Amino acid sequence: MKNQKVRKAVIPAGGLGTRFLPATKALAKEMLPIVDKPTIQFIVEEALKSGIEDILVVTGKSKRSIEDHFDSNFELEYNLEQKGKTDLLKLVNDTTSINLHFIRQSHPRGLGDAVLQAKAFVGNEPFVVMLGDDLMDITNDKAVPLTKQLINDYEETHASTIAVMPVSSEEVSAYGVIAPQGKGENGRYSVETFVEKPNPEDAPSDLAIIGRYLLTPEIFGILENQEPGAGNEVQLTDAIDTLNKTQRVFARVFTGDRYDVGDKFGFMKTSIDYALKHPQIKDDLKQYLIELGHKLEGKPTKKG
Ligand code: G1P
Repeated sequence: MKNQKVRKAVIPAGGLGTRFLPATKALAKEMLPIVDKPTIQFIVEEALKSGIEDILVVTGKSKRSIEDHFDSNFELEYNLEQKGKTDLLKLVNDTTSINLHFIRQSHPRGLGDAVLQAKAFVGNEPFVVMLGDDLMDITNDKAVPLTKQLINDYEETHASTIAVMPVSSEEVSAYGVIAPQGKGENGRYSVETFVEKPNPEDAPSDLAIIGRYLLTPEIFGILENQEPGAGNEVQLTDAIDTLNKTQRVFARVFTGDRYDVGDKFGFMKTSIDYALKHPQIKDDLKQYLIELGHKLEGKPTKKG
């Protein structure tokens, strides 16, 4: 198979976000901010940092705020310019110069079905799928973003590669899980099977799929005929398992920091970790957390 440049990314964002109700009744869950940046912007930044040129966001009901966020806002820009707030103006402008495309998934039938909506956008090229609930820390400038790692793998193998990470045995049933083949090489494994949300006792390993996929376009033909699987949804994992029977699909073990912003506790942890790196508030927050720690342990604080 010839080596094609990976230029396109698909971000499924059609989920209802029920875990964050009532906040997500009218607001897209992808717009919930970590400190001051919507979670979807972190995903878009990872894509751009990885060399992606065009991004398709698969949306659904109550998702207009995502489109507005990445659109220009003349009134706001004019206002910031008049007031000389050039730093803020740059932050706003940074969100509008991206090649973003939107398509609505009107009858959501699962992740596999969301990815299928990207068939015409992707055409006959390799592409990446990036899930919005998984943030990969890209604040370390020296680290290679996970999406870029998958693209590097593709350039070597010309094959699909799925990002995985070890999770605890209680957690496996919340993920797609792989059965790796052999010992792997430089963090990359051949895969025997991909299983969506196995019971812990049936899980073939502790290596869970973590929301970054590099896929060849042959996945679309499979998705078109994919029957619903776990949770009665059309599962991307099942289609990948079928793809692996006709062409090699690899797994890449991610060794960086991953944040799960898909549930309340994960979201809080992510917010605190990112706030501790945020230039405007990190020092105050650190001080506050130290005092809070003392308070929770019943030790006297500065204030007595
Ligand atoms: C989806 C995928 C699953 C993957 C997970 C990663 O599940 O179906 O294979 O492990 O994302 O976050 P969901 O979290 O949508 O249930």
